[in-house]
Amino acid sequence: MHHPKYSQSGNRSLAAIRDMGETLGLEKPHWQTQAMARINENYLKLQAGYLFPEIAKRVNAFCADNPDADVIKMGIGDVTQPLPPAIIEAMHKAVDEMAVAETFRGYGPEKGYDFLRDAIAKNDYQDLGIDVDADEIFVSDGSKCDSGNLLDIFGDDNKIAVLDPVYPVYVDTNVMAGHTGEADENGQYGGLIYMPVTAENGFEPELPTEKVDLIYLCYPNNPTGVVASKEMLEKWVAYAKENDAIILYDAAYHAFISQDGVPRSIFEIEGAKDVALELRSFSKNAGFTGVRCGFMVIPKQLMGTTKAGEKQSLHALWNRRHSTKFNGVSYPVQRGAEAAYSEAGKQQINDLIAFYMNNARLLREGLQEAGFEVYGGVDAPYVWLKTPDGVSSWDFFDQLLQKSHIVGTPGSGFGSSGEGYFRLSAFNSLENTQTAIERIKNSVSTPA
Ligand code: MLT
Repeated sequence: MHHPKYSQSGNRSLAAIRDMGETLGLEKPHWQTQAMARINENYLKLQAGYLFPEIAKRVNAFCADNPDADVIKMGIGDVTQPLPPAIIEAMHKAVDEMAVAETFRGYGPEKGYDFLRDAIAKNDYQDLGIDVDADEIFVSDGSKCDSGNLLDIFGDDNKIAVLDPVYPVYVDTNVMAGHTGEADENGQYGGLIYMPVTAENGFEPELPTEKVDLIYLCYPNNPTGVVASKEMLEKWVAYAKENDAIILYDAAYHAFISQDGVPRSIFEIEGAKDVALELRSFSKNAGFTGVRCGFMVIPKQLMGTTKAGEKQSLHALWNRRHSTKFNGVSYPVQRGAEAAYSEAGKQQINDLIAFYMNNARLLREGLQEAGFEVYGGVDAPYVWLKTPDGVSSWDFFDQLLQKSHIVGTPGSGFGSSGEGYFRLSAFNSLENTQTAIERIKNSVSTPA
């Protein structure tokens, strides 16, 4: 007969073990005395909310108090123009395929459909003479997710270097993963290496003086809008080789590069495939912020190291992670992304980019005319300005919102070296951009 205090497999049940412990007068084990469902306390180290929801909260409060204010949002870099027609058409077609048994598709390949990976490899890399194979590409739901998820395949004892100011996701996800200490009074987390990029150093980070293992680089840069020269990236690749480090290269804004000779990919640098992976996204160029599709290139030869000093393929580790925790991007979305590489799609995307970059130019020139010191906005959809009269970034945010009804992003929200700077996004309508420039000219006190 089955004894109630033994499980069917013949093992003692937890109840039986507990009863035995009580009979023998043993102390209760910790799982009986402590509250369960412990949290990841690393989250408690995080500063306030994530930057953009924090801004949204302040803007919502302002709008609630000023319901008639015509607020122009130039904060988060979210696209405003509709998806290009070639993409819409491809997505419609794919949805129709899903309605018919013969063409219906269930789970897709986790790394992405071949039709998309082939199109990416050809158009984004091979046609530009960059050696990337379709098999090195992992299609995902976007670069923000990729940049955070990536930490799954890296150890907990890496020395991590980030630019300052920086896209906050890189820092916050390392905090969440327990890779940092507490934040200091400047909001800098213990254990991270911050590399300041300011007007003083021409926005060019210096190579770390100590050995680091993981280096986050983002070019064209968010938030400053500046680009990296080939020489600069060559220095980083050489540093990574010398120090056995890995570069996590975020090229989400590559399509906005207008100047000749500016690298669009880290893989334009010789030897980079040994030391770098690259993140890319359809969000900003093809307008996919609400559709969600991006990808990562992890070269087959890129190696991480075990504690014992053995080399392990990062591509293989990520493949294991991706196919375990992710079921792929939806079929209609991947068809839409593929259409970004059709002749019509490419033309429409070029037009979209030209549209946003015209806004960036107007912003840059308008702000300069108004007396501001302005950076970026040439090869990136962000304009990075110095706040007038040393006003703090958040004070400038409040001033601009209250007086001009314009939302931007305070530079200090991207890191302490962003203090005294402010970011405006060119993702908007032409009318709003022009109105914003006029309002700024008229109502913000500018340096003499
Ligand atoms: C930004 O405004 O920095 C971006 O929109 C954030 C993102 O791409 O996640």
